[in-house]
Amino acid sequence: MADGFSLNDALSGYGNPNPQGWPQGPWGNQPPGAGAYPGYPGAHPGPGAPGAYPGPGAPGAYPGPGAPGAYPGPTAPGAYPGPTAPGAYPGPTAPGAYPAPGQPSAPGVYPSSGATGTPSGPIAPMGGPLVVPYDHPLPGGIMPRMLITILGTTKPNANKIALDFKKGNDVAFHFNPRFNEDNKRIIVCNSKFDNNWGKEERHQMFPFEAGKPFKIQVLVETDHFKVAVNDAHLLQYNHRMKNLNEITKLGISGDINLTSTSQTMI
Ligand code: GAL
Repeated sequence: MADGFSLNDALSGYGNPNPQGWPQGPWGNQPPGAGAYPGYPGAHPGPGAPGAYPGPGAPGAYPGPGAPGAYPGPTAPGAYPGPTAPGAYPGPTAPGAYPAPGQPSAPGVYPSSGATGTPSGPIAPMGGPLVVPYDHPLPGGIMPRMLITILGTTKPNANKIALDFKKGNDVAFHFNPRFNEDNKRIIVCNSKFDNNWGKEERHQMFPFEAGKPFKIQVLVETDHFKVAVNDAHLLQYNHRMKNLNEITKLGISGDINLTSTSQTMI
């Protein structure tokens, strides 16, 4: 991690490496990957998505863990740029990069390597940012065990980020990091029904930094959404909208450069 304080350090303070029960996987034992997101499962979309990279196993695909197929070099057609390519996400050793597999800070939040389902979602061509605000489609809605991953970088003068899981105009789950609310950093969660916001759930734990890359993982569980940022569990939000299959869109907005969105079943 950029500040030299690893997740492992953070978690060891709690005496339990996985207190929130995030799916465990053997991520710590993966060989270093060639790509910018080594060992990261389902980061690239399946075939057919707009601007999609080919699915696992297809030529030029970025394979999921254990999937057949090789990560192509930066010069391969359609390849995700290598760590040193312009605009690429920083490589494992770059400041602010996510931990490489093999580092102890990875386990605990990533899903198991037995993940099933087809990762889907767009990724910007050659690593450039997606246009924000951005709607990530969730065809068929959401369901328990669905893991949605958002990779991006906050803008240097970031004021807010918002994720909105939506059913039409209603918002099932609004996840809203605010960088400066009366000089405080706070995450506000809420739902909106018939244009009315409900009761806010406020969290002072704030893992985002202006100008830095981030990974947000939202795991849908039976009773709640579970959110992890940069591989550390952050919060839960109980479902207020019960019909999960009608939540068919994730809106992503705010002061970020958006690198990729993806989803998979774990
Ligand atoms: C409002 C804000 C909305 C939303 C809501 C959450 O004050 O305008 O964008 O964040 O709070 O309760």
